[in-house]
Amino acid sequence: MTRTLAVDPERPDAAAIAEAAAVIRRGGLVAFPTETVYGLGANALDADAIRRIFEAKGRPSTDPLIVHLAHVGQLEQVASHVPPEARRLARAFWAGPLTLVLPKRPEIPDAVTAGLPSVAVRVPAHRVARALMETAGVPVAAPSANRFARPSPTRAAHVLEDLGGRIDLVLDGGPTPIGVESTIVDCTVSPPVLRRPGGVTREQLLALVPDLVVEARAADAGTAQPAPGQLLRHYAPRARVTLYEGTGAAVVERVGRDARHLAGQGSRVGILAPEEDVMALAPRIAALASSGRVMARAFGPRRDPDEAARRLFDTMRALDREGPDVMLAIGVGAEAIGAAIHDRLLRAAEGRVVRVR
Ligand code: TXA
Ligand code: MG
Repeated sequence: MTRTLAVDPERPDAAAIAEAAAVIRRGGLVAFPTETVYGLGANALDADAIRRIFEAKGRPSTDPLIVHLAHVGQLEQVASHVPPEARRLARAFWAGPLTLVLPKRPEIPDAVTAGLPSVAVRVPAHRVARALMETAGVPVAAPSANRFARPSPTRAAHVLEDLGGRIDLVLDGGPTPIGVESTIVDCTVSPPVLRRPGGVTREQLLALVPDLVVEARAADAGTAQPAPGQLLRHYAPRARVTLYEGTGAAVVERVGRDARHLAGQGSRVGILAPEEDVMALAPRIAALASSGRVMARAFGPRRDPDEAARRLFDTMRALDREGPDVMLAIGVGAEAIGAAIHDRLLRAAEGRVVRVR
């Protein structure tokens, strides 16, 4: 049985938080909202509780977890050394959607870090997450609260869809405000390396760490080199996803053509794209859309990438529930949070990319 407690995201109810903190302290699993996505939390110092996270998610034990702290003052409890670049980034972006990889302290169980000598740490900004950690009084290890290799959850309903019956409690604080996971910067190497684009943009990081190394992985799935513990297959819906890269009219033209072709072969086709592209596609797929062979769904406007990021996973899940065999996806460009959107679509596509020029 999984209990759900509704909490106000701005002023979380103290009784609900106390109940959730008690579950964490006795080794249980609590899903809770952060500003990025919902996390599945357990006491980071309790190796048995950590093992339960991996069981509930069906996650391989080789994929390490992020440790969440209530405030930056706890950093020395988990990291054995904090280099100056890491300090600078923490000062600028915590509390917020940034994760730093640092050398770990021996108190952090190997189960958390998959045996690595480093630990990923972040201080989330969401009031529910902070209240939970403050009340629990322990660092909380939390991966995204989805079944392994499913899209990350941005609503409590997504958590229940994947993990209902497998975890103790869900704190339902409504939809998460950013919608894609935190940015991961590895500070165990110098200069630091951007391992995962996310809520803090590359442009913001470069302003503080000009020699930051940006991994090529997100730019080219064909030659993808997963970061330690990061598998390319991730965020995938049930339908087989192909990502279309390129600019405006040509991409719309190509997706429309491929959708008609695939539908003609008997496939049910989903299209996941920015609003502008869905509107431009409408006349090209009108007959197939009204017969339900092609379903085009918009995750947000190209001109507002923040909204697009917020709605990406929810729209991907909703479209997937309509049961398409294939999903043709279009991103919003690689600037700002668009880089994170592109990265998640690329992983959902498991390297199936069509470049349109
Ligand atoms: O926004 C987020 O980061 C969300 C919320 C819940 O905080 N969490 C999240 O966790 O996305 P997860 O487990 O889905 O992704 C964490 C990633 C892992 O895939 C892993 O590759 C990387 O962080 N990671 C964790 N520890 C690491 C380490 N020591 N070195 C390198 N990468 C690490
Ligand atoms: Mg995840």
